[in-house]
Parts: sequence; C-alpha cells; structure tokens
Amino acid sequence: MKDNEVLQAARIIKKGGIVAFPTETVYGLGADAFNPLAVARIFEVKRRPYFDPLIVHVASPADVKNLVKEIPSNVKEIIKRFWPGPLTVVLLKKEDIPDIVTAGLPTVAIRMPSHPMALSLIKESKRPIAAPSANPFGYLSPTTAEHVREQLGDQVDLVLDGGPCPIGVESTIISFLEERPRLLRPGGVSLEEIESIIGKVEISPIEDDKPSAPGMLPKHYAPRTPIVLNWNDKNLKIYKNKKIGLLAFQETKNYLKFHHVEVLSKKGDIREAAANLFAAIRRLDVLNLDLIVAESIPEMGLGRAIMDRLRRASTKEEIN
Ligand code: TXA
Ligand code: MG
Repeated sequence: MKDNEVLQAARIIKKGGIVAFPTETVYGLGADAFNPLAVARIFEVKRRPYFDPLIVHVASPADVKNLVKEIPSNVKEIIKRFWPGPLTVVLLKKEDIPDIVTAGLPTVAIRMPSHPMALSLIKESKRPIAAPSANPFGYLSPTTAEHVREQLGDQVDLVLDGGPCPIGVESTIISFLEERPRLLRPGGVSLEEIESIIGKVEISPIEDDKPSAPGMLPKHYAPRTPIVLNWNDKNLKIYKNKKIGLLAFQETKNYLKFHHVEVLSKKGDIREAAANLFAAIRRLDVLNLDLIVAESIPEMGLGRAIMDRLRRASTKEEIN
C-alpha cells in the first residue's frame, strides 16, 4: 500500500480538505466530520442536496460512543459481528456533530469500513470522516479510482487508489430508533445474516415522496441510458432497430440480438455479480445505447441489494 499517500491524504483531511478513498463497498469522498466547511465542500462537489445526510466513518467500535447518546445492546452485538465491514447503523446523535453532516436530523449514520486504506486514513487523520459515495449526486457509485477521477477528479484534493472495491455495493443501513431495527438500505451485509444475530428487522418499502433514509429516493444510482427490468424476448421485438445492451446475471448462449452484453458473473455467483455491477453498468452507459435491459437476480443475500440498485437505476415504464 502507498503509505505516503495515505499520510498525505490524512494531512489534507486535517487541514479541511476533501479526499476520495477506497472502501470495501464503493469509493467515498471524505472530510473531517467535525469541520462543517470541509463537509460543505463535499455537498458542492457532488451537487448533493443538503437534506441528504452523510455516513460518519470510524476506525474502531470504541469511537461510536463519542458520536451517539446511547448504544443499545443489539447494536453492540451487530457491530461486534459485522465491523469492520459493510454495515451502517443509525442512532441518536450527540449534539456536537455538525448539522450539515446529519442534515439537521437528530440521528447519525455510522460505519467502520474494513478496507485497510480507509482504516489507516481515518486513524492517521485522528478524527471521524464524513463521506458519501464519491459520485455526482444521483449517479452510480464508483468502484474504482478511475471512476472517481473521471467524474470528480479535478474537484477533489486527492484520490487514493486502492484498486477495485471487493464488495461493489454500498453498506447495509439499519436504523435503531424504534423498538425494532429497520432496514433503510439493503447492502453489503445480507438481511439474513443480520437477522441471524439480532432477530427480525422491519423492511422499509421504497417510498416515493418521503423516503425514510433521505437519500433513498426511488430514482437514484441511475446511468444516462434507460435501464429496463421488466422485459422479455417478445416485447423486445419492437426495439429491433435500436441499439440494446444486456446486463446479464450469468453466462447463457442466446445473446446475438444485443449490441453489447455484460455478464456479471459467468458462474452465477451473487457476490461476484455485486462486485461487478456498477462497473458493468458504466461500461454499458458509455456505448450510446438506446436501452439497457437487465436480467433479474435472485433476491437472496447480496441479490437483494443488487435488485434494489437496479430498480432505482431503472425507468419505471415496462416495455410491451
Ligand atoms: O458503503 C457505503 O455506505 C458508502 C461508503 C463510502 O461508506 N457510502 C455511501 O454513502 O453509500 P451515501 O452518502 O452515498 O449513502 C448514504 C445513505 C444516504 O441514503 C443517506 O440518506 C443515508 O445513508 N443516511 C445518512 N445518514 C442518515 C441518517 N441519520 N438517517 C437515515 N439515513 C441516513
Ligand atoms: Mg451515494
């Protein structure tokens, strides 16, 4: 690992700059969580609305007590099992966390990433790092440093390159404000795994006007090319003169009618599919296709997060 670069990145964070860095899920765009001006620059660069709060990244479970009023026992359990890793918990915040980080909410979202570069950046900075995914608002999250450079490169102070993100979809977000824990976003840790530790979790549906996680707007993670989920060979015929790309889950034979095909996992492995998802959609998105049709993926394990992202990326219309 390029230690010098991490040290340089930490110096930038301490001075109030913004740094893109790898995590095991997607690349983040980070600033000192206790520096409101630095955090404001993240919103500007991403063109992110201020009502959409950020996740605060810590380097140790012990850091959580400095950020929240109370840590319920089921949160302690779940953290013990899944941190460091792709799990974010939402708890009642301490007053001194700047409002810009939490969009004025009384709560804060916290996670401890497992990527070694992310962990050493937070440790060396000696402060929690507020970071959304390092993409322009509404677009797909970046899973390589190249993705970040292409879209935000000249506007951030440094892009740390830690290679492709091994998980490839964002963290699972669970809120602990009500009696029962509630899933706000499916992600890198599966619901099944979480429920095996803390019991039943409520599942929020995709809401249209009042999202429970403010950033969970139904139309999100979207490429420029329309993506369609509900299609079949028959209704594709009306598109026969159009350029259509296929986002396939696994390898099958019958691909001739497509202009380009991206296979997420040749052997149909859901983890591998998640890791390839955003990069594959980006590759399709630069081909000037008229349409991308996506295959559905079994909604178990990481499949739930993949389908959630595909639904948010897709156009509402069905083709028929
Ligand atoms: O894997 C991840 O979580 C990545 C990496 C960089 O850590 N981060 C990420 O951040 O996906 P972002 O900002 O793209 O998505 C965070 C989501 C948003 O939908 C936001 O609304 C929600 O977390 N969120 C943040 N704070 C919240 C809070 N206090 N209550 C409810 N939702 C919150
Ligand atoms: Mg994001």
